[in-house]
Amino acid sequence: MKRVLYTGSFDPITNGHLDLINRASKLCDELVVGVIENKSKIPFFTIEERTGMIEKATKHLKNVKVDSFCGLLADYVNAHNISAVVRGLRATMDFEYEIQMAQMNARLFKKDVETIFLMTSPDYSFISSSMIKEVFSLKGNIKGLVPDVILECMESKLAEKTGGIEK
Ligand code: PNS
Repeated sequence: MKRVLYTGSFDPITNGHLDLINRASKLCDELVVGVIENKSKIPFFTIEERTGMIEKATKHLKNVKVDSFCGLLADYVNAHNISAVVRGLRATMDFEYEIQMAQMNARLFKKDVETIFLMTSPDYSFISSSMIKEVFSLKGNIKGLVPDVILECMESKLAEKTGGIEK
């Protein structure tokens, strides 16, 4: 069985991520969406919230499972019979960071585990979770850029953080 891991912070999951999950799920028997704590970023959602949100957004995809973990990506990969790790590439700006991670991970992964890159759809190549959060926090319209169910979670979270949705 080919088990592939699509990994990232997903804070929050966007329609760009969802498009990639859809496409990657067709290339393997099981796609695990792995939510990782990225120590260099202060999260908007907790890791448990992000995991639950991805479960909601992917419940129509039968071979997609969601998991979360801390620590080294390669430790998770080596312990869970993962054949490949998928990452999305939006533009050349992603490439430097991604090749560095892929080459380091290649040293840490068990034999025959690959990092695979899928190009982001042009419809979503300008989206990042950080930009979504910035536009949302400044009351810009992000409808269509995240699943509707995620937009609802963002509104609830903002209300929780600010003590009520401002009108
Ligand atoms: O969605 P992101 O924030 O760009 O994802 C980055 C992430 C979480 C995949 C990366 O930071 C990571 O793999 N973190 C786990 C710790 C680790 O293994 N670091 C060494 C990477 S070579």
